[in-house]
Amino acid sequence: MNDILPSANASIPVPHTCMATSRITLPPLLVPRTLASQLLRLYDYPDPRRPGRIIKGYDCPHAVRTARMCAAVAARLGHSPARVKQYQIACLLHDLGRAGLDRRLFGRIWSWARAHGIPTRPREWRAVHPETRYGRETEAFVARYRTAMEGDGITLDSWACEQVEMRLGYARRLAARLRTMKPILRELGVTWAPWMGRVMLYYYYPEKLEGAQPWVRQLAEVLVACEQFEAYSNQRRGRDYYVRRREDLSEAFAYLHTLQREDIISRPVVRALRELAAEGAFDAVLAQARGRALTARERAYLRRTDEE
Ligand SMILES: [Fe+2]
Repeated sequence: MNDILPSANASIPVPHTCMATSRITLPPLLVPRTLASQLLRLYDYPDPRRPGRIIKGYDCPHAVRTARMCAAVAARLGHSPARVKQYQIACLLHDLGRAGLDRRLFGRIWSWARAHGIPTRPREWRAVHPETRYGRETEAFVARYRTAMEGDGITLDSWACEQVEMRLGYARRLAARLRTMKPILRELGVTWAPWMGRVMLYYYYPEKLEGAQPWVRQLAEVLVACEQFEAYSNQRRGRDYYVRRREDLSEAFAYLHTLQREDIISRPVVRALRELAAEGAFDAVLAQARGRALTARERAYLRRTDEE
C-alpha cells in the first residue's frame, strides 16, 4: 500500500523547474492511514480461475486521489467535518463494485461493445432498450449479444458475465460486495449509513438519488465531479481504458461542463472544484495521477480556472 499512501498527508517533492524542487501538498486524508489501507484491501478479490491468487484492486490510487479531492470540495461547500470524514470513507470505496476487474477481459468486452455502438452504462442501456426490466441490464446484454460475441472470440462464461455486471449491473454488484464487507467494516469501526452507498451509485444511476436530501445529492455530485476530474488526469486509465496519449486539463474541465449542462452536477460543485484547483490545492494530486509534474503552462491554466 505504500505507493498508494505515500506519506499520508505529507507533501511530495515535485520538480518545479529544471533546477529547483518545490514541495506541494496533497489534500488531506481525514481517516487514519491504517484504516485507509484496510479499506483499500477490501478491493482484493480471490481469482475464481486460479485458486490462491488474489486480484488486487485495479486502481486503488484513483480511489485515494478521488477521496482526497472529494473531502476538500465537500469541506469547501460547508459540509461538517464529521460528515466529510464519513463521506471520505464512501469515496475510498466508491469503485468497490469493480473488485475483481480483469483488465484484459473487461477491456475486450467493452471495446467490443463500443465498436458495435452498444450502450455501456445502465442508463444508456435503458434509453435504447426500454423493454429491459430495471436492474436486469446484464442479463439483457448477455442474451442479446452472446452469440455475436462468441463469433468474435469472446466467450461469455460466468467470469465474463461478472465483467459485464461491473458496468451494466453495477448497483447489484456493489450491493453484494458491500453486504459481504459489512462485518469487516464493523470490525474496522466504520458505521455504514445508507446514504454512503447511494452517493456511490449516482454516476451510473442518477435516478436512485431522486428525492434524496439536498446534501446527499450534493455529495453524490462532488464524487462524480472529482472522480471524472481524476480519471481525465489518470495516465494509467488513459492508457488502459481510453486509448489516450496524453492528459489534457482543458478536456477534464470541458467534461465537467458537459455534466453540468446535463444536470448531473450543479454549478456550485463545479465552482468549488475550480476554485480549489485555482488555489493549487490539487496540483499534487494531479501530478501524481499523471505521473509527472505539471508544466508551468498547465499550472497557469489551473490558476485561471476560477474564471467562469
Ligand atoms: Fe472511480
